[in-house]
Amino acid sequence: MTRTTALKVLAGKKLTDLDPDEWAKAQASAERILVDVGTGDARTAYRQAIAHPEWLVVGVDPAWQRMTETAVRAARKPAKGGAPNLVLVSSAIETVPAALHGVADEVMVLMPWGKLLRGVVLGEADVLSGLRAVAKPGAPLEISIGTSIWREPIPLEIRDLPELTPETVVSTGLTDRLAALGWQVADVRLVPHTDLDTISSSWARRLGSGATETVLHLRAVAVDPRDPVGTQHPAAESAQDTPEEPQRDV
Ligand SMILES: C[S@@+](CC[C@H](N)C(=O)[O-])C[C@H]1O[C@@H](n2cnc3c(N)ncnc32)[C@H](O)[C@@H]1O
Repeated sequence: MTRTTALKVLAGKKLTDLDPDEWAKAQASAERILVDVGTGDARTAYRQAIAHPEWLVVGVDPAWQRMTETAVRAARKPAKGGAPNLVLVSSAIETVPAALHGVADEVMVLMPWGKLLRGVVLGEADVLSGLRAVAKPGAPLEISIGTSIWREPIPLEIRDLPELTPETVVSTGLTDRLAALGWQVADVRLVPHTDLDTISSSWARRLGSGATETVLHLRAVAVDPRDPVGTQHPAAESAQDTPEEPQRDV
């Protein structure tokens, strides 16, 4: 881990540089590190941090102002709802600081939009490489995208994006692009809106109220780039066991 660039993190309502020694200590004492990319209001990350005090949960989003309410809550004493194991980083994933490289035991992308959505749907190198950069070898990447974004009225800025389904993930070449950049796809499935509660996302909750939302879940495992077999990681080996036909739940 580099100690040259400090992470820009939320301390209450303000952005500050995280002391590299403090960052090193936080990592060393964590049983598991979960990185939530595109964390938004960071409520999902906060809930994970509270549920797993032995973990370090890192929320990453360039729109840091949206994270301030959660950052203020997390800064309280633990008895009053504080979460000292939550770190909220201001950054886009394609320019993620070196201090976050190789730290994640799990990477999560919930209900992305903007550049993050385009990056994962089109398999753009800067976004996929950024996601890969934060992951430890063998770490899972869990992506959830609400499929209603492909129903009318479709926002102008995503009209050119192909709809992702378990079939198009393969046919558009996304699986290959992910593999080329170090992500071996392990599972792709559609989850009906009735299971939305299992996706701890503020955004999904908002969509879930009476909506007939179906969510596309994509699970991939961090392998060496251009190592489509991925035999060196146990998690990737189990990915190989999944049937060639992607699973469909609906
Ligand atoms: C719809 S919100 C979802 C927030 C949260 N994951 C949830 O489910 O409640 C999408 C988030 O993706 C973030 N985002 C967009 N482009 C990004 C990028 N390049 N890197 C990291 N985050 C990005 C946006 O700032 C926004 O907060």
